[in-house]
Amino acid sequence: MGLGLLFLLICLFGAGTALGQQQESMSQRPVAAPQGSGDIGSDYWRALRQGESGYSASAPGRQSDLINVSGSAWMTQRNEEVTKIGAWAFAIFAGAVLLFYLARGTVRVDKGRSGRVVERWPLAHRIIHWWVAVLFIIQLFSGLVILYGKSLLIPLLGKETFGVLAQLAKTTHNYLGPLLFVGMVVMIVAWLKHNIPKGVDFSWFAKGGGLVGKGHPSAGYLNGGEKAWFWLVATVGGLIVVTGMVLDFPQFGQTRETMQSMNYLHGVAGLIVGAMTIAHIYIATLGTEGAMEGMLNGYVDVNWAEQHHDLWYEEVKDQAIDAESLQQEGGSSGSTVGGDQPSSSPA
Ligand code: HEM
Repeated sequence: MGLGLLFLLICLFGAGTALGQQQESMSQRPVAAPQGSGDIGSDYWRALRQGESGYSASAPGRQSDLINVSGSAWMTQRNEEVTKIGAWAFAIFAGAVLLFYLARGTVRVDKGRSGRVVERWPLAHRIIHWWVAVLFIIQLFSGLVILYGKSLLIPLLGKETFGVLAQLAKTTHNYLGPLLFVGMVVMIVAWLKHNIPKGVDFSWFAKGGGLVGKGHPSAGYLNGGEKAWFWLVATVGGLIVVTGMVLDFPQFGQTRETMQSMNYLHGVAGLIVGAMTIAHIYIATLGTEGAMEGMLNGYVDVNWAEQHHDLWYEEVKDQAIDAESLQQEGGSSGSTVGGDQPSSSPA
């Protein structure tokens, strides 16, 4: 303790004296040992813990803070608050999806497959969706390794294996971020027109998307729930990629405090959208028979379209074609389109 204090005093005062006038002109000030105190050591450290700056011979600026008070506060917030928010968000959404599945099961195509299909997602839109989806999921997993790895993975994998994984996660996360940013911007611009809220979307919500009352609520190209998901991705997801870009490119004079706030927002927003992605993936796959076909090969069965998006179906039903002719043209990937399978359990 005594030697350490001596060393610090030498760094602060000795180096400062050597730099003399030059340091003064940088408007930095030494940490003065409190006057009249019998206990210089504890007062001195108290001042440092409250963020008191000294000056350093090595470089101007924040290097003179012997204790980075705001950094310590940020680290506590990250390790104790952000990690808890994430754990709760994932537990709540995974639990809700499981309960929903147990209560409702898969929503089948009530009338079964017709063998006639309409185009729902053209190729360019599918590319945008999978661009964002694949990158988002890679970013989510690499982000989880960065955030929880030290406490959860080191005990499982050991320090060496975790070191390799953490390095891989960090490099991947940093390099793919800008690609996700571009994908998000393109997706938001391309799909904005489909997602303007309309009266019918509120009725869709009033009927709980089909949970309340009889029959399936009316919907246009996208239903109320899908529009809500889009706006969540556009706003909270937008926050993820914007804050990510600020963190990825620190060479524009961002202060340490700015980086800490961006890191906090980035983590919380990422965990919220990440947890909600579980619900989106469930609804699009296990939850709704026939929905994935549209995002895989572009076409959906007309009975699916009529059941889930009746108002849109009215607009496009004249464009319906035989699923078989589509397969012969090679426009779709065989097994997922059409067929005359009967519906097994109506929702
Ligand atoms: C394995 C992961 C995913 C699967 C299987 C999946 C599947 C789908 C499907 C089938 C649709 C079309 C629904 C319809 O035709 O009505 C869709 C739409 C959409 N997806 Fe995904 N998706 C995945 C991941 C993601 C991710 C990570 C995001 C964004 C973070 C995302 C954002 C969207 C958006 C904004 C739409 C537009 C319609 C809507 O708002 O629901 N998806 N997805």
